[in-house]
Amino acid sequence: MTGLSLVSTGFCLPEKVVTNADLEKLVDTSDEWIVTRSGIRQRYYIEEGDRESTSTMAIAAARMAIERAGLSTEDIGCCVCGTVSEDYACPNTSALVHEALGLREDIPVMDVNAACSGFVYSTIAAKGMLLETGNKYALVIGSESLTRHVDMTDRSTCVLFGDGAGAAIYKLTEDTPYASILGARGGREILTPGSGTRDIHIKMDGRAVFRFAVEAIPRCIGTLLSKSGLSLDDISWVVLHQANERIIDHCIKKLNAPAEKFFKNIDHMGNTSAASIPLALSEMEGKGLFEQGQKLMIVSFGGGLTWAGALITYGK
Ligand SMILES: CC(C)(COP(=O)(O)OP(=O)(O)OC[C@H]1O[C@@H](n2cnc3c(N)ncnc32)[C@H](O)[C@@H]1OP(=O)(O)O)[C@@H](O)C(=O)NCCC(=O)NCCS
Repeated sequence: MTGLSLVSTGFCLPEKVVTNADLEKLVDTSDEWIVTRSGIRQRYYIEEGDRESTSTMAIAAARMAIERAGLSTEDIGCCVCGTVSEDYACPNTSALVHEALGLREDIPVMDVNAACSGFVYSTIAAKGMLLETGNKYALVIGSESLTRHVDMTDRSTCVLFGDGAGAAIYKLTEDTPYASILGARGGREILTPGSGTRDIHIKMDGRAVFRFAVEAIPRCIGTLLSKSGLSLDDISWVVLHQANERIIDHCIKKLNAPAEKFFKNIDHMGNTSAASIPLALSEMEGKGLFEQGQKLMIVSFGGGLTWAGALITYGK
């Protein structure tokens, strides 16, 4: 079967760290409430001005992933960026990455807006683009600066989100296990402002999203296993969207799964939407957690509502 191999990763984080103690000074909240409800202890915020943005972070993360892969920009056969907080609707983030890195002209570049599922949606879309174009390597990015849209007086959302970007280089492989799932259920549980709305702030029905997440994630994992004919014992790492530590723990319990396979970095990243999974992958690669040939699952849920999952392999 034609599969996808994760060849390398890259990341970029803003300089500014915002701790729970910092937020205690802005809204009626506490470190204890935030940690017990979400597992978050700190997150990164982009600064005011143009120096840090969704595209600058995407470019830095992409450059690092290409360098770590030992590839040149000529090798990149498509560029897809998951984001819901792009700098411009046009040029999209991927086009800005294309410009900055000098990618080839004969490759497709596009953004995917599937909210927090954006990176996994982009991964699966990139596989299709490689098959369509006959190219070998895909550059897939998740980059977000959602804190630009957070109401810093709304304690129910401002404590959860953070900014950042992660990038991955994928390679098409032959005869490696692969499975995917994509889906959506139209709903307004999470609203993020776009150019066609007068809203300027994120709004969210947290409890409804929580209920949705703990149903969608185990369902996606079950589908990936049944489609691939594998069991969780065959999977080395499950990397879930880092929205809330309680959601991840609920899913582990529901699946009766070994907790050590489920990577978590939400404590120091917060919810970075489409950037959360590539940021996690990049942190894992930096820590030397991956071994050649390991099977990984990436699974996300998000606004839309959307869900997505892919079973891939790690290796050059
Ligand atoms: C947002 C979330 C952490 C809230 O936790 P919760 O246990 O559902 O809390 P609730 O929203 O029911 O609020 C409980 C109380 O805490 C209060 N509260 C909300 N935010 C608070 C904060 N930051 N600090 C202190 N209290 C807070 C509420 O006002 C409410 O008070 P009340 O009972 O007096 O009305 C949780 O619902 C969640 O994680 N949902 C999923 C969100 C998500 O993943 N979104 C991204 C999807 S990609």
